[in-house]
Amino acid sequence: MYGQIGWELQRSLSPLGDLVALGRDSGEYCGDLTNLAGIADTVRRVAPDIIVNAAAYTAVDRAESEPELARLVNASAPAVLAQEAQKLGAWLVHYSTDYVFDGSGDQPRLETDPTGPLSVYGKTKLEGEVLIQQNCEKHLIFRTSWVYASRGANFARSMLHFAKERDRLRVVDDQIGAPTSAELLADVTAHAVQDIKTRDDHSGIYHLTAAGETSWYGYAKFLIESAKVAYPILKLDPRAIEAIPSEAFPTAARRPLNSRLNTNKLKSTFNLHLPDWHDGVTRVLTELL
Ligand SMILES: NC(=O)c1ccc[n+]([C@@H]2O[C@H](COP(=O)([O-])OP(=O)(O)OC[C@H]3O[C@@H](n4cnc5c(N)ncnc54)[C@H](OP(=O)(O)O)[C@@H]3O)[C@@H](O)[C@H]2O)c1
Repeated sequence: MYGQIGWELQRSLSPLGDLVALGRDSGEYCGDLTNLAGIADTVRRVAPDIIVNAAAYTAVDRAESEPELARLVNASAPAVLAQEAQKLGAWLVHYSTDYVFDGSGDQPRLETDPTGPLSVYGKTKLEGEVLIQQNCEKHLIFRTSWVYASRGANFARSMLHFAKERDRLRVVDDQIGAPTSAELLADVTAHAVQDIKTRDDHSGIYHLTAAGETSWYGYAKFLIESAKVAYPILKLDPRAIEAIPSEAFPTAARRPLNSRLNTNKLKSTFNLHLPDWHDGVTRVLTELL
């Protein structure tokens, strides 16, 4: 099985060159990020020009009770990929998260702003970033937020599922960010990969999200209102979605309140436009309904 971004990358990267796509159980090559010797061997045998790592330990709450496993997958494995990429003179493209920040304030974070993760997941993802930067000269690290797709586990699919079964829903309204589709992430990655095939000076961290901002509540309301138009028999009336503060919905891991990321560096470096978050959500809804 591939993750949300991994699945979309297989589509978007396929026209750019020979693609070797690996999951956890990939037969001929080891794709299990808990097997550090195995993934080093895979890189040596495949000898790629560019490695794109979309796998991660993404269970944010479970990571609080499995910090070693989260660290192995999110930090130690990317470090090995970075070391092996460096030996080959290859690029390493990797994904990170807004959860590396502490969520204070209300301004979109720059790549250069101080980090301060609140959770084990955020800390291990930050450690992965640092180890990649230390071990591999040619890297692209895309920090993104609130990823969704028509497949996989995500907020949009959960909300639609609840909307079919429940007549009331309470959703957090004080965490602000930008829902970002795996499709957009994969397409932007393909543009960036095309760019780095011919130049070495764009190495670095980039913030990459859809444009605009909302809360989880605003996102849920938009989803259910739009879904209701196409699918009127949904049980949940969007007016029955209640906005609640984060304290009213305790979770094992603390989440940042301010998940806004400033994407100007990405847009100007790669000459790209990032669409508003509503566009991608509307599109994925047509696939989900
Ligand atoms: N989802 C978000 O909201 C979000 C937000 C910000 C940043 N990101 C980052 O974006 C990237 C991709 O996220 P996503 O949303 O596509 O995640 P996802 O759908 O949860 O997919 C993660 C993938 O990683 C695989 N994986 C986990 N442990 C592995 C291991 N030991 N060896 C090999 N594969 C393993 C999973 O395989 P199994 O299915 O077999 O477990 C799954 O295919 C990650 O770096 C994540 O940190 C995600």
